[in-house]
Amino acid sequence: MPVITCVEDLKKIHERRVPRMFYDYAESGSWTEQTFRENTSDFQKLHLRQRVAVDMTGRSTATQMIGQDVAMPVALAPVGLTGMQSADGEIKAARAAANFGVPYTLSTMSICSIEDVAENTNKPFWMQVYTLKDDDFMQRLFDRAKDAKCSAAVITVDLQLLGQRHKDLKNGLSAPPKLTLKSMANLATKVPWGLEMLGTKRRFFGNIVGHAKGVNDPSSLSEWTAKSFDQALDWDRIREFRKMWDGPLIIKGIIDARDALEALNVGADAIIVSNHGGRQLDGALSAIRALPAIMDAVGDKIEVHLDSGIRSGQDVLKAIALGAKGTYIGRAYIYGLGAMGEAGVTKTLELMKNELDLSMALCGHQDINTVNKDILMIPKGFSDGWEA
Ligand code: GLV
Repeated sequence: MPVITCVEDLKKIHERRVPRMFYDYAESGSWTEQTFRENTSDFQKLHLRQRVAVDMTGRSTATQMIGQDVAMPVALAPVGLTGMQSADGEIKAARAAANFGVPYTLSTMSICSIEDVAENTNKPFWMQVYTLKDDDFMQRLFDRAKDAKCSAAVITVDLQLLGQRHKDLKNGLSAPPKLTLKSMANLATKVPWGLEMLGTKRRFFGNIVGHAKGVNDPSSLSEWTAKSFDQALDWDRIREFRKMWDGPLIIKGIIDARDALEALNVGADAIIVSNHGGRQLDGALSAIRALPAIMDAVGDKIEVHLDSGIRSGQDVLKAIALGAKGTYIGRAYIYGLGAMGEAGVTKTLELMKNELDLSMALCGHQDINTVNKDILMIPKGFSDGWEA
């Protein structure tokens, strides 16, 4: 096994080990992938101010997200089809997160069901909820999350329609993979992955099959979303969801300050600045560039988190410096999961924490809770034109 020193190393192993259609699913943005690329490249535009001869002993990255203790301000983001990257992938990722002391968010579009993850882990996780037309399904999803003792619900508001990802269409993405000549040729080169998959029964969308009316075979994400997702969603409807769930509520998918103000009025506990990892509106602003205007609009009234583009502990540090209380990683832990299962997710978290701790120290801070904008050099125009 090669020495793994960064998330990029895990990505290379992930690419070799996992069938092309699932690697591509994780790695895709929509259309030209401009927003997908800028989510990461815009972090590079922020430089860090190095400080020296500052006491660097007794450091801590521990803080809180929505009042819950976290070992560092990083949660695992909801990722659809995680159980296709590695057999029982959601259970493995949730266990790694719980042992590390960071939140795990289970996607509605997961392979392992809410109940499965709850039975196989011993710490509460967060439940991500898509906004579907079917009221019964929605109420039951919240009830199932409550029965599973989920400690927060995350409502995703940026996917009434699925963004077009060229690779998924070309690959005929489905769970489990449909057997075509092309997919079989690729699967034949992924024997360890295939043997693991044969050893589990969890190969379908576990939260949907047997729970959603009139949906017998939701193996295709695009067909299911087109049929079931609520294109008529508005803030009043989101207020109804607030009533269906009495625990902490997080609204995910805000990139415009006006929408952040709407989310504030719904009574959410936090919002997540996110463009869905560049998978929805291609051409939308990167999350890190959207953050300053949103902080100006709502920053002291609601907790603000950031998702989309975080690949390193330095990215986490920069988001925190701009005012986010927490961040989310999606692809970064999926690379680890695809590469090495649960140990790979733990490896991702260790790498991120080490990068965060070291960079924070070299910027002259011992405690993540004291980090602020002073550690950054922000180029002119980084967030111009986006004030509410
Ligand atoms: C679903 O959440 C997706 O982005 O594929």
